[in-house]
Amino acid sequence: MNLAETPRQHIDRLWARGRALLGTETAIMGGAMSWVSERNLVSAISNAGGFGVLACGSMGPDLLAAEIEATQALTDRPFGVNLITMHPELDALMDVCQRLGVGHVVLAGGLPSGVAIRRLKDGGAKVLCFAPATALARKLIKLGVDGLIVEGAEAGGHIGPVSTSVLAQEILPEVADAVPVFVAGGIGRGEAILSYLEMGASGVQIGTHFVCATESIAHPNFKAAFIKANARDAVPTVQVDPRFPVIPVRALRNKGTDAFMETQRTVIARHQAGELDQKAAQLEIEHFWAGALRRAVIDGDVETGSLMAGQSVGLVREEQPVRVIIDTLIAQAEAALASRAIPATPGATAPRTAPPEPVA
Ligand SMILES: Cc1cc2nc3c(=O)[nH]c(=O)nc-3n(C[C@H](O)[C@H](O)[C@H](O)COP(=O)(O)O)c2cc1C
Repeated sequence: MNLAETPRQHIDRLWARGRALLGTETAIMGGAMSWVSERNLVSAISNAGGFGVLACGSMGPDLLAAEIEATQALTDRPFGVNLITMHPELDALMDVCQRLGVGHVVLAGGLPSGVAIRRLKDGGAKVLCFAPATALARKLIKLGVDGLIVEGAEAGGHIGPVSTSVLAQEILPEVADAVPVFVAGGIGRGEAILSYLEMGASGVQIGTHFVCATESIAHPNFKAAFIKANARDAVPTVQVDPRFPVIPVRALRNKGTDAFMETQRTVIARHQAGELDQKAAQLEIEHFWAGALRRAVIDGDVETGSLMAGQSVGLVREEQPVRVIIDTLIAQAEAALASRAIPATPGATAPRTAPPEPVA
């Protein structure tokens, strides 16, 4: 750290490119969470100096338009919209974003097409995409994305196989000079934010930590489950048979996750008995979780609903306003920096630790 600057100035220098891309005070993105990241949480994150992202999920164009307009009524600050690339009405959703002047679109759920990226950019939006590997990060940069999100397996929701720390080491040195990169997955303290910024990230994306924000509309049962949970309770869904693939989702273990295992075994047994063909069996497995996140987040069914949560859930101890969450993260990063600073003695440039004794 340059001794002429305060810890906050240092952090602002580290995430300057992220802030410039997002147009925010801090380069902390509130990762879109289906059902949770609606107008209230998104506007609260943006109003507190972060960057809220609306989760479109399975909404159609009219619902999305209403949610964008409601968010715009609650904040004058920038926020983004997360669109799932395999949504059947993706084109219409992109048109809604353009018509309503959404400045940033995050494309999630698979590699987006160059056509989709170009269309959004031609409409004036900045485009951010998830990069699960260096080769894909390079490909997305060639396709013209403005920023990348690198999300590791510690995260809540749909996950890849590689941890955040390894992905960050793999991808940041290769592409962080080309576009701003935001690291996501398992971030629950400011020291972690600082370390990823020092590795070359331009910002971070956080989901789990914002679920229990006062402004989040998640059901009290959902928040209580988060506050009670430890890191080890947030586990990926398990696939019991390689012939029937299951996209891993990290969520708190409950009766639903146990029942999912049982359902897979029963469905596979019915397939083996000739009752169901391969396709029907796969569909039955995939449909198990239909509506399950909504049931947990909105209706408060924490027994059989899906409690999607990242491992950082163990660091969530209480319900707090978004502003307190963001300020606490920044204070932790600042304290970590301050603890490294050399006491200012005029004329002295002493190293922080004594040099090693020469070996005889
Ligand atoms: C309940 C929940 C729902 C999520 N839904 C989505 C989603 O709809 N689209 C998406 O791109 N990511 C989704 N995510 C991932 C978040 O946007 C974010 O990248 C992730 O939570 C970051 O990791 P963390 O949970 O460790 O903070 C979801 C995460 C959670 C916990």
